[in-house]
Amino acid sequence: MEFEEVIFNRRSKRRFIDKEVEDEKIKKLLDAAMAAPSAHNKQPWHFVVIKDNETMDKIMDFHKYSKMLEDAPLAIAVCGDKNAYKDFWVQDCSAATQNLLLMAEDLELGAVWLGVYPVEQYYTKLADLLELPDNIVPLNVVAVGYPERASKKLDRYDKEKVHHEKFGNN
Ligand SMILES: Cc1cc2nc3c(=O)[nH]c(=O)nc-3n(C[C@H](O)[C@H](O)[C@H](O)COP(=O)(O)O)c2cc1C
Repeated sequence: MEFEEVIFNRRSKRRFIDKEVEDEKIKKLLDAAMAAPSAHNKQPWHFVVIKDNETMDKIMDFHKYSKMLEDAPLAIAVCGDKNAYKDFWVQDCSAATQNLLLMAEDLELGAVWLGVYPVEQYYTKLADLLELPDNIVPLNVVAVGYPERASKKLDRYDKEKVHHEKFGNN
């Protein structure tokens, strides 16, 4: 897929067909995530690969906007190591997540980012469920699968959001 197609076609996918994601594709998703930039190149990320339906069910029990896990054959929890470089782990792991989402699009998979951190009741419950050490915080869960439908090109360009030299000069 062309780079621009990947960027502009990517949309959140919340409906998946009944098909496993192959291990080689999971490896590519993780490889892309770990290619992200990070402050001081600390790469403070960890990824918990979840295929177990029971774990998905437990996430749905406490996360209000996670119903797509019902169908998803795969979920990846993107977690940050607070001890690696505490100020920027959220940005680093967000960059990793975006890389993962774009790789999913390129592999003709569908994915959606489920926000976890900084909602305390989400990240504490998920940390318990995944048995994370104290220094590892879950930023999100990415649900992944083969989408029911492909998405079309997106145009969100808004000149009002672009300011030349000073704010307000659109
Ligand atoms: C920080 C963050 C948290 C999100 N949390 C959820 C979520 O809990 N559940 C969900 O269905 N989508 C979630 N999303 C996906 C957004 O709803 C989605 O990206 C947005 O509606 C734009 O649509 P698009 O991804 O198709 O471009 C989240 C996205 C981000 C970046």
